[in-house]
Amino acid sequence: MSPGAADRAWWRDAVFYQVYVRSFADSDGDGVGDIPGITSRLPHLTSLGVDALWLTPFYTSPQHDHGYDVANYRDVDPRFGTLADVDDLLVKAHDLGIRVIVDLVPNHTSDEHEWFRSALAAGPGSPERDRYVFRDSPDLPNNWHSVFGGPAWEQVEDGQWYLHLFDRTQPDLNWRNPEIPAMFEDVLRFWLDRGVDGFRVDVAHGLVKEEGLPDQRFTEDEETRVATSFIDPGPMDHEPMWDQPEVHDIYRSWHNVLASYRGDRMAVAEAWTNDAESLARYVRPDEMQQAFNFHWLTAPWSAAAFTKVITESFAAVRPVGASPTWVLGNHDVVRPATRYGGGQVGLARARAATMAMLALPGSCYIYQGEELGLEEVDVAREHWQDPRALRTGEPGRDGCRVPLPWSGDRAPYGFGPSTGQPWIPQPDDWADLSVAAQEADAGSTLMFYRELLRVRRTFATTAGDDVELLDLGTEAFGDDVLAFRRGELTVMVNCGNKAVVLPDAAEVLASSVHVVDELPPDAAVWLR
Ligand code: NOJ
Ligand code: MG
Repeated sequence: MSPGAADRAWWRDAVFYQVYVRSFADSDGDGVGDIPGITSRLPHLTSLGVDALWLTPFYTSPQHDHGYDVANYRDVDPRFGTLADVDDLLVKAHDLGIRVIVDLVPNHTSDEHEWFRSALAAGPGSPERDRYVFRDSPDLPNNWHSVFGGPAWEQVEDGQWYLHLFDRTQPDLNWRNPEIPAMFEDVLRFWLDRGVDGFRVDVAHGLVKEEGLPDQRFTEDEETRVATSFIDPGPMDHEPMWDQPEVHDIYRSWHNVLASYRGDRMAVAEAWTNDAESLARYVRPDEMQQAFNFHWLTAPWSAAAFTKVITESFAAVRPVGASPTWVLGNHDVVRPATRYGGGQVGLARARAATMAMLALPGSCYIYQGEELGLEEVDVAREHWQDPRALRTGEPGRDGCRVPLPWSGDRAPYGFGPSTGQPWIPQPDDWADLSVAAQEADAGSTLMFYRELLRVRRTFATTAGDDVELLDLGTEAFGDDVLAFRRGELTVMVNCGNKAVVLPDAAEVLASSVHVVDELPPDAAVWLR
């Protein structure tokens, strides 16, 4: 039985808003977003109606992977502000009833972390090297690939190799060395003591590697495989770097750390595992509270695919008593409006998919700019910064990381006090997409999101956790309509190309386009 609304942990039904710190708001005019910028824009988040923020890494870092390369886990990079700025943001967000979780990057450090520098200085066989994964080998120690392309090994001057599952500047830590878990428990406490409400755990499935580091075995011909991607790692027989059983010992101990603080502190896993059962292991009652559910990111615009997403997502979390999470986009993937075809159609579909996600039981993650209907930007090659793009030569993740437009009719669209372009140039045609422009337009995507989040509050904690999928494949709605009921709420998403008739006597609570008796293609409706 699900607990009553009053004693339900806040994160179970929370709408999280992901702030990509570099690209949200710039307070000091250097063209890079920062912590005081976020604080200054809290009113946007309260009027949007979100419950919590997830801040991407703002720690001291050379920024080779934009903060996912941490040189000091207990300090703020001067580009982004100071510890006092974070304290101030926490106080002000909490005063407004907004919770804040921060990113934790435990799989790897930056090569500028003092531990890695001293590992290099101390030489082969030293306790310092044992904090990372160094190997002696005449050639590459095994066949592992970096997620960002190329081999996962880099050779240092004395001939040893170190493992980096991501960029060369992101050496993997050796979690079998007891110093590492001890250090991270301290880091957790450091931020919990400052008042954060939880953590988003980066590469949660990667921390422990199989003993002996055996070769990776691919189901397809290795020759034909290009760089593995954490969005779609493809079928593999044996993945000695991912999802090893020992990672769960780490999350059980973190569970206890979180539980020793008041206020339902939480952790959400970024874990790309092979199947629902393996993902569910991260959210067992004594591990993390949530895991991102990436099903929707890889699903096409199709009622059958969405139905499968929903069914499989519940199947994954229900057996362990966890609540689901839903996400349509983040700073690593193509923006939903573009993924669904771009232009008016893509935007209409993204708005409709958002309605499905927000109506489901569980917690939703909105990536900054989705509320403005932003599309993926085609960033010119000379402005590429994503290490994956630079390593593979393929367009990477820069297009979903372009700084937000707040106001005005040209770059930087109120992003900061500077004139001229921010760290990734903004398109020339963003004036109508700015927050200010959309606030003045009742039919805008921003006003639509505000309305959805307002209506969602009326049922999110009371409509129950049961979802009944309706009539898919029958005459009533047809194969092309995703339809489900949750308590008194009925949700329909028309993924086909014909309008469908709405049920009689239904009251429209919200809709992605104006509806009367029919739901047009690429639209969604909440009915009661
Ligand atoms: C996942 C993060 O979301 C991504 O941005 C980063 O590049 C990798 N983890 C490596 O930390
Ligand atoms: Mg700045």
